[in-house]
Formats: sequence, C-alpha cells, structure tokens
Amino acid sequence: MSSETAVSAAPAVSSPPAALYGGASKRRVTVRDIAAAKERHEKWPMVTAYDAMTARVFDEAGIPVMLVGDSAAMVVYGYDSTLPVTVDDLIPLTAAVVRGSSRAMVVADLPFGSYQSSPQQALETAARFMKEAGAHAVKLEGGHRVLPQVELLVSAGIPVMAHLGLTPQSVNTLGGYRVQGRGQAGDELMADAKALEHAGAFALVLECVPTDLAHRVTTSLSIPTVGIGAGPYTDAQVLVWQDLMGLTPRPAKFVKKYFDLAGEMDRAVRAYADEVVSGAFPTPEHSYR
Ligand code: KIV
Repeated sequence: MSSETAVSAAPAVSSPPAALYGGASKRRVTVRDIAAAKERHEKWPMVTAYDAMTARVFDEAGIPVMLVGDSAAMVVYGYDSTLPVTVDDLIPLTAAVVRGSSRAMVVADLPFGSYQSSPQQALETAARFMKEAGAHAVKLEGGHRVLPQVELLVSAGIPVMAHLGLTPQSVNTLGGYRVQGRGQAGDELMADAKALEHAGAFALVLECVPTDLAHRVTTSLSIPTVGIGAGPYTDAQVLVWQDLMGLTPRPAKFVKKYFDLAGEMDRAVRAYADEVVSGAFPTPEHSYR
C-alpha cells in the first residue's frame, strides 16, 4: 500500500483526542498526553499512591497520574516530616504502584538528600527509580538550585516534574509549613518556574502559594501546573490520598475530605472485634468442611 493510499484510507473525521481523565484510552499516559491536555485547557486530577491495591482503585477510576510522594515518610512510615525517608524506602512502594496500575503515569518523588549534591547524584537516584521500580517520571523540589539536575535528567531521557512553593524537604529553612510566594517572593517563584520550564521539566507542582500567583504562573507557562493549596486556576490538582479520604487526623486547610475512611474503618474493625469476642464470627459461611 502506498503512503498516499494509507492517507486516503484514514477516516474523514478524525476521532477527538482522548481526555486525560475519563478518556477511553487503555495505554499508559505519557508526557505527550499531558502536554496535549494543557493545549486543550483540560484540567486533570493527580493523587498520591503507595501500594498496589490502592493504585489499582485509582487507576480504574481513571486517575491519569499517580505520585509516589515522599509524603510516604509521614503517611506510610509515621515520621513527622518527609526528611527521613530514603530511596530504599520508596523504591518498593513505587514498584508496587507500577504493578498495581496499567494506565496511569507513575511519578516517583526523589527523597531529601538523594539529588541535591550534584546532577550526577540526581541521575543515579532517578535511574534507580526507573530501572528498579519502573517509574515513568521523577519529581524533585526546588528552583534555580536544581536546574543542572533537571537538565541532566531530561537529557538522559527522564521526565521531570518540578515542585515550587512550600517544598516540605526545606521545612527547616522555610521555618515551618507556611504559605510561600507572597510579595517579592512571588517574582522569585515566577522566575524559578520559567527557568524550570526552560530546563525541560514537563510539569510543575505549586504547593501552598496564593491563588493569584498560581494563576499567573499557570498562564505564563506552556507546561501544566499541578496545584496543592494553590487555588482553582492550576491545570491540575494533587492531594495525598489519605487526606482526601479522611484518614489524616489534622489535614491542612487546602484539603477537602471526600470520605470518612477513618470513621468507616473504626466502625468496621470494632464490628469485627465484637463478633470475634461474641463468637458471631466466623459462621459456617466463612468456614471449610
Ligand atoms: O510528597 C508528596 O506527596 C508531594 C505532593 C503533596 C505534591 O510532594
């Protein structure tokens, strides 16, 4: 068949591009899909995930991008900040999320101390997440300080999601978990955002920044912004799944609780325990002959 014939055999009306969320496509989401969504001004949801079963639920719900966040330090490992978690802690979680999903892009967070010292260190860490866990992209925190890291990773073929605003790995220099980018700091954040885009980042998380600033950054960049505590104008939103499901005891102001998982689990485990104590469980229905 000549290329001319192949072209003329194509349907007269091409099918619309698959939406990132709610689209029919069964293949993995790629950075090209994410770039195309920005061009279409299409908003999309991202959630964190840390295990295979939860990842499967989110994947089947159509969530296009899952982040194995270093928030695992707090919500999985029980630390009081993200600082202690290591690459060795996060690689098995990332591998589980990749195994539990078939459509979502899985982004692995590079933990504190695993990329800051040099671009070479960043490349070695990111390569471990790609080779050992099957991650499709990595995320790292910071602006101008990490531009050489972003450039090297991108040139090595590793998609990079950047992260500005409240960067929890810098909580000690930021003086706590507080809103970032007010006043003059907003101009610095804007400059960092443009530099990260220029360095090749495919998306930018904006955490805890004023709505106006997030709006300006979003309209100034051609890569998508992913907001968390950054108001309604970012291209995407991300939440830690334990926050949105109501498992976190004291969530931040920016969290909307969509379910009372802690309450439901409490009710269920008490019902189970009461039935064990009373002898109501197990019945013949749950026993073998
Ligand atoms: O670690 C994490 O979960 C994150 C998101 C909150 C953006 O960085």
